[in-house]
Amino acid sequence: MSRFTVRHRPPPTRWPTAEEAARSRWFSPARIGRLEVAERTWVPAMVPWRATEDGVVTPEVLEWYARFADGQPGVLVVEATGIRDVASGPLLRIGDDRFIPGLRTLVETVREHSQGRTRLFIQCIDFLAVRRRPEPEKFFLRFLDVDAALRQRLAAASGEPAWLEAPEPAIRAHLLDAGQHDRPLLEQILTARERESLDYGYRERVGDTHLPWVRDLPRTLPGLFAEAARRARVAGFDGVELHYAHAYTMASFLSRLNTRDDGYGGPREHRVRLPLEVLAATRARVGSDYVIGIRYLGDDVVEGGSRIDDAAWFGVRFAEAGADYLSVSKGGRFEDARQPKVGEAVYPYTGRSGYECMPTVISDERGPFGRNVPLAAAIRAAVRAAGHATPVVTSGGIFAFEQAEAILRRGEADFVAAARQTLADPDWFRKIRLGHGDLVRRCEFTNYCEGLDQHHKQVTCKLWDRVALDAPGVRRTSDGKRRLSAPSWRPPDAGAAGRE
Ligand SMILES: Cc1cc2nc3c(=O)[nH]c(=O)nc-3n(C[C@H](O)[C@H](O)[C@H](O)COP(=O)(O)O)c2cc1C
Ligand code: SF4
Repeated sequence: MSRFTVRHRPPPTRWPTAEEAARSRWFSPARIGRLEVAERTWVPAMVPWRATEDGVVTPEVLEWYARFADGQPGVLVVEATGIRDVASGPLLRIGDDRFIPGLRTLVETVREHSQGRTRLFIQCIDFLAVRRRPEPEKFFLRFLDVDAALRQRLAAASGEPAWLEAPEPAIRAHLLDAGQHDRPLLEQILTARERESLDYGYRERVGDTHLPWVRDLPRTLPGLFAEAARRARVAGFDGVELHYAHAYTMASFLSRLNTRDDGYGGPREHRVRLPLEVLAATRARVGSDYVIGIRYLGDDVVEGGSRIDDAAWFGVRFAEAGADYLSVSKGGRFEDARQPKVGEAVYPYTGRSGYECMPTVISDERGPFGRNVPLAAAIRAAVRAAGHATPVVTSGGIFAFEQAEAILRRGEADFVAAARQTLADPDWFRKIRLGHGDLVRRCEFTNYCEGLDQHHKQVTCKLWDRVALDAPGVRRTSDGKRRLSAPSWRPPDAGAAGRE
């Protein structure tokens, strides 16, 4: 078992001349479905927590995407955007037609800043309820269900049959006391799910088919995703990305941990059924010429979860069902997340699976760089062996031109995506294109940005968020302490340079 005790540094790298970049694979055109893409450079979805509490596009959202578009990546994917018309905090939403005008402005902003070179997709997400870790008083006195089964466990554990008939408030008070002084007793009385709700906060699962809205997900989700995609098309996006990755509903259907017994859980064929039905409904709504991509996990990483053999098999199913690209991520699950503080919600990027999703420089011998590429390579090989040309996107610890070029040369992926490196320097693709790679501000992979995400704070990068705070036109975070966007960049030899 690898230990996370090795401190890595982003290794030195050689940057290409403008001519070399122009001839390279990474900066060469490709197709996704019927869409021409100018380059194989890619910015995957990143939630910056900048929408209104109603999920509407704000000037801060526009600034976030404008800044990425300045670098003119081949593809830019807009953050996970909620497909339901329900309050979700400052997460973008696409669950009603009233969101279309704001999203259309976002599309226009990216077109303008990328001079029409960047293809823009939007990631569509569904998630189940996750509540904050409760105060023990609240849990025992209000949330806990005191039913006959609990009474029986209490009577058996304590050897006192009187608990079978005791008044409910007495039971609640007794358990609250046990929570403070007799944890072993509590372990015998509460079910594993109840203990989880106490220690981590209540969390719904796709297997909770006793809840009508969870049982009905196979009936409701295809229509919700399809309508979201229709709105994306109306707003002018070049495509949609179905979010089947990380801790959310669709990834949980795909996971080996999904044991639903209604034909949508258990064996692989059943676990992939709803994801395929969502894809089919979405395709039917937007037509055959519109890009529908899928982001999903090459490995759940958690115990009992799906592995690469499942993911390769799913990849072939998605390809034969007409997905236009497969974007491979890893981990990011709730099951192994760290215990949150009271009053906070569990965050799926804190455990081992979270590490694998956004690896940092404190690592094992292998280090964080390009760590997830073998998953994309295995999925791509399976998809190609089945006769499909569906492009595969890899991400995770991508930081350099040579690294991306080698991945493409070896045929491990068709597009190479960089999230944090692009946040650290939104101009880095442009700098490389112009032969100014030596000016790239390099990500340190220490996850300050992820810490902000965890607390739903407006996401920025530590390398630039305090630079020239008082310069004219600098927009700041709501607490006034950080700038919201990287300072702008102009080539030192502006006017004479490269392909601009
Ligand atoms: C602040 C932040 C927000 C993220 N939000 C999303 C998201 O909305 N959807 C998604 O699929 N991945 C999300 N990710 C994961 C990234 O897309 C990417 O897979 C991960 O950061 C690893 O790539 P990197 O090493 O290039 O950063 C997020 C990552 C960060 C740092
Ligand atoms: S905050 Fe750190 S990990 Fe995040 S983009 Fe900046 S340098 Fe990279």
